[in-house]
Amino acid sequence: MHIDIITVLPEMIEGFFNCSIMKRAQDKGLATISIHNLRDYTEDKHRRVDDYPFGGFAGMVMKVEPIDKCISTLKEKREYDEVIFLTPDGEVFNQPMANQLSLNQNLIFLCGHFKGIDYRIRQHLITKEISIGDYVLTGGEIAAAAVADSIVRLIPGVISDEQSALSDSFQDNLLAAPVYTRPADYKGWTVPDVLLSGHEAKIKEWEIKESLERTKRLRPDLLDKR
Ligand code: ADE
Repeated sequence: MHIDIITVLPEMIEGFFNCSIMKRAQDKGLATISIHNLRDYTEDKHRRVDDYPFGGFAGMVMKVEPIDKCISTLKEKREYDEVIFLTPDGEVFNQPMANQLSLNQNLIFLCGHFKGIDYRIRQHLITKEISIGDYVLTGGEIAAAAVADSIVRLIPGVISDEQSALSDSFQDNLLAAPVYTRPADYKGWTVPDVLLSGHEAKIKEWEIKESLERTKRLRPDLLDKR
């Protein structure tokens, strides 16, 4: 999979994609992630990519030309499955969307800033709009990083134990069961006996029971989706 991220703040996310599992995915050749500075696509001598909104509204708006130029340049090299705009008024991201997007080959993520982007970009160039939740961030970078992370980790081979992606919380609209590691007794805080029993069927039964109990208690809304 190849992901191009368009941003006015490349330094904000470069570090994120250069460590841990995102780095390993790229080192293994399973994903490539390129970050593009939108300011490299403006003719403006001050490298400005925003301007005042028509209509006298407050705030600044990201201009059409640099975004169009950047996306057109990228499209000369690849065909894209989706051109995604990260925005608080997009479709709220969830695990089924991550699963679906992880099947794609080439994606563009456009990070918004200021008051928003010129609406013509959304009308003519964007194919999907995603929000990571009902709150407003200062820009789309953290949202792009979150969405890219959740997609890339689903690519087969990215995380060593493929099973572990399938057993994540939300994969079947259930929260995952609790997990424990050594020591089995820390200051009297003990691990459930069944997990030390080695009895596979009983452990599976415990896992399902815990998973249902946690979902009922913490996210009852998920049970309606099953
Ligand atoms: N940009 C600002 N807030 C956002 C959000 N909640 N989701 C996606 N992009 C955003």
